[in-house]
Amino acid sequence: MEIIILPTPAEVGRVAAAKIASVVQKKPAAVIGLATGSSPQVVYADLQRRVEAGEISFAEARGFALDEYVGIPLEHPESYASVIARDVIGPLGFDPSRVRVPDGRAGDLEAAAREYDAAIRDAGGVDVQILGIGANGHIGFNEPTSSFASRTRVKTLAPSTREANARFFESLDQVPAHCMTQGLGTILDAHELVLVAHGAAKAAAVAAAIEGPLSSFVPGSALQLHESATVVLDEEAAAGLQLANYYRHTYDHKPEWQRF
Ligand code: GLP
Repeated sequence: MEIIILPTPAEVGRVAAAKIASVVQKKPAAVIGLATGSSPQVVYADLQRRVEAGEISFAEARGFALDEYVGIPLEHPESYASVIARDVIGPLGFDPSRVRVPDGRAGDLEAAAREYDAAIRDAGGVDVQILGIGANGHIGFNEPTSSFASRTRVKTLAPSTREANARFFESLDQVPAHCMTQGLGTILDAHELVLVAHGAAKAAAVAAAIEGPLSSFVPGSALQLHESATVVLDEEAAAGLQLANYYRHTYDHKPEWQRF
């Protein structure tokens, strides 16, 4: 795992975006794993700057979102379908027909989840997966005790996740109880993972995921099983790391051929 600690959230966005841009430059039809939440906003902002500067294009790329609420109307402004359309498809210039979000409104949710997982595989797998991390250690909506082998499926949201996401709704009661999320096994199948976190509220989850034991209690610790995972943090999110100085030293001495 490569751990990069930077002074500001904007720098986190710039470096994570550079990693994703390098994938799209090599492979314009790359499959991008898209995350919602506030953490990746800095990444999308920097990618948008690169698109507008003509450095990269997502016109041929494909996208698969990590997760969606169950039972939320498609047109609800906080459905992840709406969020992905607003924050990603429009600003980055994806072809909407090439971006998918799990169908949390399907009559047969289990079948829809299986089909989504198969569609990712049929697309050749995710080339680079963008991730945030919840304060309880979740990635996607894989709440604590999610199996490392899990595939796309329906999960019940943890009370703390519903409380954290209540800020996007008029009241806590309106936050759906269930979601459909790529599983940890699905996420681990991506060729590369890029997790971003900023702010003090993420420090404990980040430390547990990176330096704690491999445990389904901390779903983010699944990154330890991946051969190409990059974690980009600001100083506040990195505050709980014991080996922070080692990670800084490593990044400062990164050989030129390894830079992106
Ligand atoms: C959300 C999403 C995750 C996200 C996490 C953290 O509910 N399902 O994909 O990484 O919680 O969100 P934020 O970045 O807003 O703190």
